[in-house]
Amino acid sequence: LASQQQARFEAALAKEQKIEAQDWMPDAYRKTLVRQISQHAHSEIIGMLPEGNWITRAPSLKRKAILLAKVQDEGGHGLYLYAAAETLGTSREQMLDALHSGRAKYSSIFNYPTLTWADMGAIGWLVDGAAIMNQVPLCRCSYGPYARAMIRICKEESFHQRQGFDIMLSLCKGTPAQKAMAQDALNRWWWPTVMMFGPNDDSSPNSRQSMEWGIKRISNDALRQKFIDATVPQAELLGLSIPDPALKWNEERSHYDFGEIDWSEFMRVLGGDGPCNKERLSTRMKAHEDGTWVREAAMAYAKKHGGK
Ligand code: 3HC
Repeated sequence: LASQQQARFEAALAKEQKIEAQDWMPDAYRKTLVRQISQHAHSEIIGMLPEGNWITRAPSLKRKAILLAKVQDEGGHGLYLYAAAETLGTSREQMLDALHSGRAKYSSIFNYPTLTWADMGAIGWLVDGAAIMNQVPLCRCSYGPYARAMIRICKEESFHQRQGFDIMLSLCKGTPAQKAMAQDALNRWWWPTVMMFGPNDDSSPNSRQSMEWGIKRISNDALRQKFIDATVPQAELLGLSIPDPALKWNEERSHYDFGEIDWSEFMRVLGGDGPCNKERLSTRMKAHEDGTWVREAAMAYAKKHGGK
């Protein structure tokens, strides 16, 4: 029977048919989806913290309202993704326990500090720009609930990226001090964003299997290259210089050649030793602790009103 189920699963993948929650799937397929989707959700929720730091410091009511909407969106993305992960049989408590205990990861990029308002521009422009590159192919993921959650999320990401670029444009058209602030943010956020796509393909333990299962459609290095090729012209338009002396258009490859990535920094951040890892995780754990009464009240209410 198992071999028939395996054959049906593989036939569905081959026909690009979505695998749905009630379908049989190999345990390893389920496990890697819980790993990736829960970590994706953790990234969205933790990703609210760096930007949240600037909501009360925004330079105008308009910027404040936009940033508030973006951070709220990230929270919503986290909830869609936790819900998608729950269709695989895991629970919110298990996923949050894995995050709080350090067993689960979240995107490295959110372990860097947001030092000036220009960081709000750099994050929207670069980090959400990178997220769009990585998330659009996930709309074609073989697992139905994940693919459908990504379609909704990608629609909102394009606004996130555009408002970031708009902040950078305003600063670059402003005073020399404002342009210098935008350059400083680009200098600090460029390489961490390049690392966000994950390790090189030949040192990525999950890529081959994830590509065979139709979870990862484009490799880490190919997405990274796509991001760099798309972003260099935007930096030129802003009149900002990208902090990579080796960056150069390669006519033959028709891609930009770029410098060495400092993978030791990436591994340090993944190991919990980035600039803000401890602060991000303790903020999340405190918020979870402080929110216990809300969860208990909601459960008591649901019980009293028969789960409605
Ligand atoms: N930060 C933290 N961990 C990372 C990472 C990063 N930037 N890149 C890779 N890793 C981890 C992987 O999770 C894996 O560890 P694990 O096995 O314990 O999970 C290990 O490094 C090896 O990497 P692989 O390439 O082998 O792993 P994957 O095949 O899972 O690829 C990934 C990594 C490309 C991040 C993939 O998991 C993915 O596409 N995830 C979903 C998308 C996502 O999380 N995007 C980024 C954050 S969301 C965001 O940016 C929100 C936006 O609104 C700003």
